[in-house]
Amino acid sequence: LLGSGSPERLIPARVIERKRNGAVLEAQEMRSFFLRYLEGDVQEQQMAAFLMAVYFQGLAPEELDALVDVMLESGERLDLSGLPRPAVDKHSTGGVGDKVSLALAPLAGELGLSVPMIAGRGLGHTGGTLDKLSAIPGFRTDLEVPDFVRIVNRVGCGIIGQTAKIAPLDRRLYALRDVTGTVSSIPLIAASIMSKKLAEDLVGLVLDVKVGEGAFIADEPGATELARTLVGIGERRGVRTKALMTAMDRPLGRTVGNALEVSEALECLRGGGPPDLRELVLRLAAEMLLVGGVETNVKGALESAVRALDSGRALDRFRRLVEAQGGDPAVVDDPGLLPRAPRTAELRSQGAGVVRECTPTRLGYGLTELGGGRSRLGDSIDVSVGFVLHVEVGQPVARGESLGTVHAANDAGLAVGLEVLGRAISVGGADEPPPRLRPLITELTEPYV
Ligand code: URA
Repeated sequence: LLGSGSPERLIPARVIERKRNGAVLEAQEMRSFFLRYLEGDVQEQQMAAFLMAVYFQGLAPEELDALVDVMLESGERLDLSGLPRPAVDKHSTGGVGDKVSLALAPLAGELGLSVPMIAGRGLGHTGGTLDKLSAIPGFRTDLEVPDFVRIVNRVGCGIIGQTAKIAPLDRRLYALRDVTGTVSSIPLIAASIMSKKLAEDLVGLVLDVKVGEGAFIADEPGATELARTLVGIGERRGVRTKALMTAMDRPLGRTVGNALEVSEALECLRGGGPPDLRELVLRLAAEMLLVGGVETNVKGALESAVRALDSGRALDRFRRLVEAQGGDPAVVDDPGLLPRAPRTAELRSQGAGVVRECTPTRLGYGLTELGGGRSRLGDSIDVSVGFVLHVEVGQPVARGESLGTVHAANDAGLAVGLEVLGRAISVGGADEPPPRLRPLITELTEPYV
């Protein structure tokens, strides 16, 4: 009867041992274990040991569902039943230079969806939408849920942070994973992401699962399993869930750094910006329209998205979003009003050749070194610093050609930034075989387990 799932009889050490030995726990047993943790009967060190057992043994779908259920039940959920338009969101598993949400939320809002986006801060080497938005003077992401729902209803989209009340079990587990080497576990990442997304009361969800050097799960089989696990959780709960695998073997777009990325997202909303950013924003918008039931084929959905982006209607929607959340809307028309780093310097190529590599993790951690990301929870960040890339992988460069610009707070930052950029971008001989890059977007062939 030990570990049988009856709350009275549950013995934490026995549950941990069984998971450690590879048993599939009963749903009730998982439930009780996590409920008892919330009540303080299962200790932090016991949960840490359990998470490590999960890290090595994984979770069966029924165990995963039980965990997601408790995470969801532990907190508040949005009630969007009063909204006239289908609620659909997008979530990325985390990347470098990924400013997609800033352009996508207003675009999808413009296209007839409600987008109630609960976004995150930067994590490890990856950036976070909340940090990027904090570059817009006055923009508030700490709204109460009823105010947030009102904004989503009025504007078609809204972006807030995970409040203390949304999936608090995830918050506690996340903090524990962060300090126990158990972040990069596929089922734990999947449960964590989906507990927040399912709290949004969605009809449909599109997942942007990063793959490549800068992704949390970098290898293709692992990223594919993560994608399928995420889709499985959503689909089993009746949320139409679609995953795309997208390239993170190089940064997305040409900027890394919070204010610089807002500026680039604004270019995209004006119908310009780097082609990879534009392509991904348009495709994700099209997929959101499909899972939301607003469009029935990807071609038509893409055409609607292109029209809304190129006409400036999505940009107008972004201006309304900024205004509704307390930000200065003047920034939308004049990105020069965004915080700017006082010092800049360019890195020049030491020889002629071809750009072979631009490694996202180096730039991501480099941003933290410049002060634009956190190395400890609660650190404040400098939103103005970062990198602007002038070249992309595969491009020929001449000796002395500019490879990128560092934006820093002072001379010491410039020196650090130039070194980071020099290590991130490598230029090789033109006679070497061309560098291999992942396609920007790939579909999952078998949708979910
Ligand atoms: N994002 C999350 O919300 N949770 C994880 O575990 C990883 C990325």
